[in-house]
Amino acid sequence: MSRGKYIAFEGLEGCGKSTHVKRLAETLGAVATREPGGTRIGAMLRAILADPDNTDIDPRTELLLMTADRAQLMSEVIEPALVAGQHVVSDRSVYSTLAYQGYGRGLGIDTIRSINEWALNQALPDIVVWIQIPRDEAERRLAKRNLDRFEREGADFFARIAVGFAEMAAADPARWIIIDGMLPKDDVQAAIHAAVSPRFAS
Ligand code: TMP
Repeated sequence: MSRGKYIAFEGLEGCGKSTHVKRLAETLGAVATREPGGTRIGAMLRAILADPDNTDIDPRTELLLMTADRAQLMSEVIEPALVAGQHVVSDRSVYSTLAYQGYGRGLGIDTIRSINEWALNQALPDIVVWIQIPRDEAERRLAKRNLDRFEREGADFFARIAVGFAEMAAADPARWIIIDGMLPKDDVQAAIHAAVSPRFAS
């Protein structure tokens, strides 16, 4: 049996990831999951990470909690599914840690990569779908929500994250797909389908 594909969605808050993770997983008959919070342990870590009252979390602690969530998700959900030949579609991945903790918080990219390669046992996403929306659009969409600890960060933080996604996508075009998140929902879905399908041939 051939190993399933691991597909991760990335992007700023409000870009539409959750909707399209769900839609692509349905189309592929894949396992859908999310980070942080895709396991029982992960849900507890997510609550700590998202709580706006936790203003005292050190950036390194934040990085390690995100990575701990990912290690648990990999061993409990992702790897068993891939080994069983199922595809996995995840709302966020290691590239969020590189973007948010690496570029956003200014922690070292190389350190984050090596800690995560260890935590993931080298199993990086095969395909990354970056739903790109401009920062001011993300801010507009967030204005309608109850904000978590990350969503309360300032514009500079999100500007650095957007640069991070752009640099990582440019450096690794074989893995990354860039989708225009400003299109109507069904067009975004069609664009994702058109871009992802050929990658299944390889
Ligand atoms: P979500 O709102 O897309 O579910 O993600 C939760 C928040 O956690 C979001 O603001 C991005 C942030 N995050 C990181 O900072 N680093 C990570 O590694 C992950 C997976 C999420």
